[in-house]
Amino acid sequence: MVVTNYLIIGSGVAGLTFAIKIADRFPDKKVTIVTKANADESNTKYAQGGIAIVTDKDEDSYQKHIEDTLICGDGLCDEAVVKMVITEGPKRLKELIEWGAKFDKNAEGNLDLGKEGGHSENRVVHHKDQTGSEIERAILMQVYQKENITVLDHHFAIDLITENNCCFGALVLDEKTKKTTTYQSEITLLATGGIGHLYGHTTNPIIATGDGIAMANRAKAAIKEMEFIQFHPTALYDASTGSKFLISEAVRGFGAYLRTKKGHRFMLDYDERGELASRDIVSQCIDLELKKSGDDCVYLDCTHLDLQAFIKHFPMIYKYCKKTGIDIAKDWIPVVPAQHYLCGGIVVDKNGKTSIENLFACGECSRTGLHGANRLASNSLLEALVYSNTIYEYLADDTLKISKPKNNITDWKSVEKPEINSEYLTEMKSKLQLLMRQNAGIVRNDSDLLKAKKQLLLWQTEMEELEKTHSISVAFYELLNMIAIALLIVQQSLDRQENRGGFVKLQSDKV
Ligand code: FAD
Ligand code: SIN
Repeated sequence: MVVTNYLIIGSGVAGLTFAIKIADRFPDKKVTIVTKANADESNTKYAQGGIAIVTDKDEDSYQKHIEDTLICGDGLCDEAVVKMVITEGPKRLKELIEWGAKFDKNAEGNLDLGKEGGHSENRVVHHKDQTGSEIERAILMQVYQKENITVLDHHFAIDLITENNCCFGALVLDEKTKKTTTYQSEITLLATGGIGHLYGHTTNPIIATGDGIAMANRAKAAIKEMEFIQFHPTALYDASTGSKFLISEAVRGFGAYLRTKKGHRFMLDYDERGELASRDIVSQCIDLELKKSGDDCVYLDCTHLDLQAFIKHFPMIYKYCKKTGIDIAKDWIPVVPAQHYLCGGIVVDKNGKTSIENLFACGECSRTGLHGANRLASNSLLEALVYSNTIYEYLADDTLKISKPKNNITDWKSVEKPEINSEYLTEMKSKLQLLMRQNAGIVRNDSDLLKAKKQLLLWQTEMEELEKTHSISVAFYELLNMIAIALLIVQQSLDRQENRGGFVKLQSDKV
């Protein structure tokens, strides 16, 4: 058994920024970060566009950013949360800069501000098209300098340890030794990120399997708004692979046009903001255009843009396109919508507290009320930075009473069992991804959702039976978790009766 004061599950922006602060505040306490892949592997690392923060108070204002967020969330944001997150932005940016993160500046030496869908002003602070990897680099470096932080990579959290609605840590599998250990902790933070691999066709890296939300769900924490899946409009279309390289929305903010195969600039038919309408609207319009035309993709036209300026701002996108044979100076980029982000998740209050005592959640796995029915572009990194700070401030109070377990927490006793065939798990994962794409995509209907629910319940029972007789593996638990998340998405989609933001359900007579 390992005993620690703070157990942080996940090493993206949410987990790492909380770790830095709490480790500084309590140098005598132990902070343990478990993370299931290399320490830097996370959705954070792949963030392109940047962080939405009001820095230019002449052109922009908190009020404008608040209004853009509320419009994008389509009436379902929590206004007090929106206000808190947006007004905290500049302080959190200052901290990131102090930790060594570098952001692009313009010729006048001010922060260079990009624009993305749904924003009425240029306000996206960025590091070329690799903002996430720059942030992850800087904060990981800070973490490695703290003596009281231990980072355990390739350690997979399996389940939370709870008693009477109170959390006392988690069971963790060391992927190299295959040994499962009990990590007992006073405070546990879930910072496990998104769910992209439920859909397969996603901008998310392979780690995004919804583990934290599934663990919280098994522990009976409140989970909400799982029906609000965000599909990014412009993932590079590549028929040969499910993985979808992102073409940042900032490229449309830079002036790129969306066209049908025949060349029609269709977004102007639907929304006066054209290509810079919010993400839910652009993805839904592309979906409609593809259904009308029967084409496989639409196109992003950058041929009219200043090539040298494009390469300076988007070097990674330029190189990636070139590698796949697309010369953006001459060719249109084929794009399709792909799963990108989860707006709902584990319900937390303004201090990041879940409905389970001593259990906190932060970042993409949490549901704070900021995003409502659809997240405004580049508000996610901001949300994680602000909430990791509010959790820290809440826990920084050393008079805070933390509940202790009534019974002794016992160590995990492993029993020798055979491993589950990995081909079976791979095949099941592909079937699950196809089921979700076909039945819980951009446009849903009750009949498909009910079919999906029936199948998911069968798979869930099959997996639970296998769990009794086989040894624990990461692939098995990821699949079990993904099935649980899929059921939450399907059930909450069935429950929602009104279309809002990123959620569109056709009535059965229109199916
Ligand atoms: P993550 O960064 O995903 O970190 C999750 C961590 O949890 C990982 O370390 C993972 O390994 C670990 N983990 C998961 N399960 C377990 C387990 N069972 N046991 C142990 N460890 C576990 N947002 C913006 O605001 N601006 C952008 O420009 C932007 N661009 C994006 C571009 C792409 C391609 C993608 C995919 C997302 C983008 N986003 C952007 C969204 C944003 O990056 C994420 O929402 C945010 O980084 C999530 O941070 P996080 O710390 O919550 O989770
Ligand atoms: C992008 O760069 O298009 C992604 C921005 C985001 O997800 O907020």
